[in-house]
Amino acid sequence: MADPEATTLLQAGPPALVYVIGETDSGKTTLVRELVRLMTGEVRVAWVDADPGQSLLGPPACVSGAWAGESGPYVMRFVGHVSPSGHLLQMLTGVARLIEHFRTEGAESVVVDSCGFVTGGPAVEFQYQMIDLLRPDCLAGLSRRDELDSLLAAFDKRRGIVCRRLPAAGSARRRTAAERREYRDKRFDEYFRSARSYVLDPGSLGMHGMIPPASRPERWTGQLVGLTDKDGFCQKLAVVSRFKPGEALELFGPPPQLDDLASIQVGSMALRRLLPG
Ligand SMILES: Nc1ncnc2c1ncn2[C@@H]1O[C@H](COP(=O)(O)OP(=O)(O)O)[C@@H](O)[C@H]1O
Ligand SMILES: [Mg+2]
Repeated sequence: MADPEATTLLQAGPPALVYVIGETDSGKTTLVRELVRLMTGEVRVAWVDADPGQSLLGPPACVSGAWAGESGPYVMRFVGHVSPSGHLLQMLTGVARLIEHFRTEGAESVVVDSCGFVTGGPAVEFQYQMIDLLRPDCLAGLSRRDELDSLLAAFDKRRGIVCRRLPAAGSARRRTAAERREYRDKRFDEYFRSARSYVLDPGSLGMHGMIPPASRPERWTGQLVGLTDKDGFCQKLAVVSRFKPGEALELFGPPPQLDDLASIQVGSMALRRLLPG
């Protein structure tokens, strides 16, 4: 049976863009799945998984998008860390570029499952700027208390945006920080199952992101990096096994398609545990 909350959001017809917001475990992903399910068959729907901490589509530390109802490949952007804080620009451009990609490919509706980064001044401002940039026609907030009040109030009077306030899922379902970490570790393990060691010439590719300072070359070892393709999307993730500026970059990860690489984006999280030996 269709979820009445999801059905209400679609009453005026399929929105071109839905942005679902709420704290962790408020029920965002459940609502997004239901919205996508209800719209599938009516319009061409894509969804964006914008939660780099509890990602569903792609690996953690990324935001990803896919067509609804297809188990086909996802498109992803590397954020650089499992926590959005400190990587807000990468989150912003990542989500915007994914939506643009699916629209260019013919999506009539895109549903964004946002991250749980909503409480506190920086989080509210980040979400404000994200929503302002994306301009969803439907903004659905799942709240427990008053945590979304000021943010949603900022959009209540905006032309073209319909704000909906929905009750969050019950607190009994909340996962502990340890459970969330375990989930992330499992997702990284799965992603790196096909990993092998290989070498890239960083001189032939652009390099940007959270590059360790020249005085701390040891910080390269274990760093998570994203290999960006010629369209600006993340083709593969890798962990740095060894690197000294000016030398070859030794990586460990699922093998990339070398002729479609444009640049290397350095993240700011270490995953040494994934390195062999
Ligand atoms: N409307 C709801 N009523 C009851 N439980 C729900 C509801 N929506 C989600 N849940 C449950 O709450 C938990 C968190 O939901 P999820 O959609 O993963 O949240 P989020 O994506 O915000 O972290 C899950 O166990 C899910 O089954
Ligand atoms: Mg979720």
